[in-house]
Amino acid sequence: MVLSNRLLSTVAQLGLVAGSAYAEKEYIWPNAQTDLLESMLYEQQGFGSANSPATFIVPCDKVTFGTGRNGAAEWLRTAYHDMATADVDAGTGGIDASIGFEVNRDENVGIGFNETLMNLIAFMTPRSSMADLIALGALFAANGCSNGSIEIPYRAGRVDATGPGPSGVPRPEQPLDEHISSFKKQGFTPQEMIGLVACGHTLGGVHGVDFPEIVDVVNDPRCQDLLERMINTVPKGVTLTDPIQPIPVKPLRLFATINTNGTMTMSGYIRPCLISDNFPAFASGHVMYGNPPLTFWTYPFSTVIPLAQGVSGFDVEVVDNVNGVINSTLYTNGGNGFPFDDTIVTQPKLSCSEVTSEGRMDLSVAIRDDSKLDTLKAIVHVPEPLLSLTPSVGSIPLDFTKVGPIEGSGYTLYNASIVTGVIPFNFPNNQAGSYIRTYDLIASNSTHTEEREFNMMDGLNSCPGIF
Ligand code: HEM
Repeated sequence: MVLSNRLLSTVAQLGLVAGSAYAEKEYIWPNAQTDLLESMLYEQQGFGSANSPATFIVPCDKVTFGTGRNGAAEWLRTAYHDMATADVDAGTGGIDASIGFEVNRDENVGIGFNETLMNLIAFMTPRSSMADLIALGALFAANGCSNGSIEIPYRAGRVDATGPGPSGVPRPEQPLDEHISSFKKQGFTPQEMIGLVACGHTLGGVHGVDFPEIVDVVNDPRCQDLLERMINTVPKGVTLTDPIQPIPVKPLRLFATINTNGTMTMSGYIRPCLISDNFPAFASGHVMYGNPPLTFWTYPFSTVIPLAQGVSGFDVEVVDNVNGVINSTLYTNGGNGFPFDDTIVTQPKLSCSEVTSEGRMDLSVAIRDDSKLDTLKAIVHVPEPLLSLTPSVGSIPLDFTKVGPIEGSGYTLYNASIVTGVIPFNFPNNQAGSYIRTYDLIASNSTHTEEREFNMMDGLNSCPGIF
């Protein structure tokens, strides 16, 4: 088996310009810490946006959260109340999702905190902590409600608390000197305190008809800095990543289907990052805030590879046709290609998944015989329990059954099935009814183990019988 094949895939022949402003820098795909959050941050509309909480609140107030209520305001306020008990000198508190353990305190009155957490829990995975989601939600709120003028750089890496923090969210009835010392503890001067409160209170129930004179403050550039510092306040020991940038060329939903004629069909999508003044008019476009607006176009590919050759990675060639002038750019992911390992491969056509009927997932996975791996299990990750306010991701073990060899291929097929439940129909403000479920594959024999971590459901068939 030759594993050094570099598959060259021509993905685009369109009159668009590959994003030179976002040219390939040091980023090497994949990056476990930031890839999913990059999609959540930028893929706010269109194909793939079901994986982003942006679908709830971007643009501002998109979803009706109830009469007189504004989801974006609730998400921003939740972030502040999570952060407000920080003690920056001691290095404790900040955005750590401890709010989930604190919603019954009378300093956290209102249904908004519960609903924010219940909205966001559907997006929790081992690679998207509730604390990172709370920060992302505040970023979406500020961006969407300022018509895009507030663009807070998004850093990842927040860690969820495992219990409640101290109390101390400021209350309206407290005297000014107590507010000043509380904000000092949070890392803000009295002047910054006034600014942060003003920026926050331009959204939701405390602005509008009663206070029209403060409505536009969220558009003030000072809000960007203050809100950025708010979401980046984290306990000591937590290190945030550099701001997440759009990935110039991102592969998605990669699969290798093992055929019975001595070939495999490698398929997937390539998402080059292109600069365009126009919002895409078809479903495969992705849009984010920004000036100029950044648009992702997603190109499916499928190619047949002899099994005797195999595949270990691929390069991506983007071909632009601008007014008849053809330009070609080869993306090599830092020189070594985009890696793809064909040893342990989920079979998409034989697998299925749904998260709205009973939460069923049937998995068929092929393992290459020359790897000598003969046992397969999975760890399935779901936000757990789905109605809990306390942030956690569950890990459910799943054993596979060996089905037998795939004829003439040198691969053996393994099957497993699991039902992980659904978000109840009356889940507050749950528009899609879905949640993100991921799985790790762990193949082993008596001497060694190989893992394929963090596989997503995207690209699997829908299980039959869903409504
Ligand atoms: C001295 C500090 C603060 C006090 C005393 C305070 C108090 C309040 C009160 C009493 C409400 C109304 C709640 C209701 O409608 O039932 C409110 C709403 C709100 N607060 Fe604050 N707040 C403070 C700081 C902040 C900060 C720093 C932010 C964000 C940066 C913020 C964001 C919000 C938002 C967005 C709402 C509207 C929520 C909605 O309509 O659902 N607050 N705040």
